[in-house]
Amino acid sequence: MSTDRVSTVYKDPIDTEYIKEGLHKAGLPVCVVYKEETGSTNEDARLLATGSDIPVLVIANKQNKGRGRRGRDFYSPAGTGLYMSIAMGNAKELIKTVKMTAIAAVAVAKAIDNAVFSGTDTSLIKWVNDIYIDERKVCGILSEAFLSPENGKDGLVVVGIGINVYEPDGGFPGDINMKAGYLIPAGQRVRKGLRNALVLEVIKQLFGYMDLPEESLAEYRSRSYLTGSYVKVNSFVPGDEDKECVKVLGIDDEYGLIAEYENGQIKTLTSGEVSVGKSTTKS
Ligand code: BTN
Repeated sequence: MSTDRVSTVYKDPIDTEYIKEGLHKAGLPVCVVYKEETGSTNEDARLLATGSDIPVLVIANKQNKGRGRRGRDFYSPAGTGLYMSIAMGNAKELIKTVKMTAIAAVAVAKAIDNAVFSGTDTSLIKWVNDIYIDERKVCGILSEAFLSPENGKDGLVVVGIGINVYEPDGGFPGDINMKAGYLIPAGQRVRKGLRNALVLEVIKQLFGYMDLPEESLAEYRSRSYLTGSYVKVNSFVPGDEDKECVKVLGIDDEYGLIAEYENGQIKTLTSGEVSVGKSTTKS
């Protein structure tokens, strides 16, 4: 890989031919679409994949309406991040979205470690779908399932992945700056080819782990950022605004978060969010 100082954000371009060839060599029939700028790649992938026989991968250099979970925005400036969505018809009989999200998190963590950290286990997974490095969120994943209104079964799964590859010029705006991280700091050189390598590696790992559910779960558990920590739970249930402090005991077989409450009760959370105030002791 050649290197250049990070002075502009356009020195690590997306090369769709390289990505298509890599996917072809890996025996993965995927339609690849690149957009210099778009609203949301999740939306693009959903529309393009409807009626397609093969999965559709949409990659964008910039998103104007990048979507996060729970209606939040995902900051998606040009050139510094990787914004990609893969839409798959009936992905393995529509693996439950929470499972798909978790498998995608494992795939991304592995891909980042292979592409950036010479394969050493560096990326952690914050339940259920965020990737953390050095206590900072470097990637978010939004999986959406669209079932057919005809039989409520056939449909599409769209897995959208946003990775902060380079530190944005001037840093992240507002609140995001408090918790967002990136793979390559501004002081380091641009790694030309890194974003292409990441796309390829993420897709290969994703298809690999979709066929290896037990390995995926084991990898998820070993990379769990929260296990052993005390965290606050936000259930998002109206009228249930109090955030309870729980100790995270682990991850169950369905990627639920096993939590011990202050009264000693143990419950498995299957939805909601936890905030990290990460600590190994009670706050
Ligand atoms: C989150 O952190 O809440 C999830 C963020 C997911 C962002 C990715 S970027 C590519 C794809 N397109 C979107 O609009 N969202 C996802």
